[in-house]
Amino acid sequence: MILFVCKGAKEKMCKKTYVEEFEQRGFGLFVHFGLYSIVGKGEWYYRLNKNCDPVAYRNLMSKFVVKRDWATRLVAIAKKAGCKYITLTARHHDGYSLYDTCGLNDYDAPHSACGRDLVAEFVDACNKGGVAPFFYHTWLDWCNADYTQNFPKYIDYLNKSIEILCTKYGKIGGFWFDGAWDQSTDWHEDEIYGTIRKYQPHAIIVNNTGLSELGKTGHPQIDCVTFERGNPFLVSDSRSVAGEMCQVLNDHWGYAATDIDYKPVSEFIGNLVECRACNCNLLLNTGLKGDGTVRDIDKCILTEIGKWIRANKNFVYIARHSAVTADNATVLTDGTYLYAVVRNVPVSGDENVNRRLARTLVTLDGKIKRATWLDNGEAVELAAPNAFVVKPFDYGTSGALRVAKIKLK
Ligand code: GLC
Repeated sequence: MILFVCKGAKEKMCKKTYVEEFEQRGFGLFVHFGLYSIVGKGEWYYRLNKNCDPVAYRNLMSKFVVKRDWATRLVAIAKKAGCKYITLTARHHDGYSLYDTCGLNDYDAPHSACGRDLVAEFVDACNKGGVAPFFYHTWLDWCNADYTQNFPKYIDYLNKSIEILCTKYGKIGGFWFDGAWDQSTDWHEDEIYGTIRKYQPHAIIVNNTGLSELGKTGHPQIDCVTFERGNPFLVSDSRSVAGEMCQVLNDHWGYAATDIDYKPVSEFIGNLVECRACNCNLLLNTGLKGDGTVRDIDKCILTEIGKWIRANKNFVYIARHSAVTADNATVLTDGTYLYAVVRNVPVSGDENVNRRLARTLVTLDGKIKRATWLDNGEAVELAAPNAFVVKPFDYGTSGALRVAKIKLK
């Protein structure tokens, strides 16, 4: 049983300290990795490829050769991107485990060509790098016959699997469950969450409500609601749970070698800003290749996001929802300053190189005392007591989104 004290909160639901810590992390890296990574056609390959032979799929284990330093490199990429936690698919819907299932079955990484416990390597690299390890774990299972034929036995297997993850890897940041949307049944949530609370009382518990039930709250033990690929919304300022949007870089969570449908870097930064403005985190995904490496384009996108965060003085970690609003900008606050984030900021130049030279104003519902551009500290030009002019980026540079740091009167 966890006790927590809410100072000064009478009617408000209060937030547990570890949930607040999770919110302060702000930005996480989602990592899909499994046998499907070898095929390079997405994490649903087993289910959606009509020609997929179950035996051949299982035989991918003999090809699962993972680079020794995969986890260290992954953590370095995550840190460069500004991610403060990493959520790894310890087991996905194909039922294959990246961790040692300790005899529950032999469909796991130690019984594959790599012959190692990849979750242990992941946790170790996270701990060394100072980012929190989180485990994605599916509840459904395409390959375990008990899932459809002997559900009580399956739940026991699932619970034992969770117990292994709770007890073998030291302190973990949390669990990100998925797949409960597969069937409407008694998932024995009390039992599974009870196992987590017994061994990891401060682990964040997430249970993905999928594409159709964004932000839906569930069991009382759940610490965070999900917004899968959907813009988050502010449920209420006083809600006791955190929120997290998960987002893909292209069209697949698992590595899909020919998927080139990447969104622009500025869109992900926009996602991060919108998440923070709703007191939510962003969990941005990369699908590892079969050898555990990150695709070059993913690495570049993540690196550029990290550069933008640092160029803007890391405000995304401290900024939260603001009651002040503006047209043409998303406003956040750290309690003292406002951060007005403007999208689609043009690049200066002339009509021969740039079409977007219209002078844009941002009008706030508050009077500005002083304001500076966060990226270079220059004063913001005021057009009225409550309005400022959007300064284009100098020709030859562009950050796409620009942040005005504002003190109101
Ligand atoms: C969906 C997909 C799953 C993916 C997850 C990530 O639930 O079924 O493959 O891992 O979204 O949010």
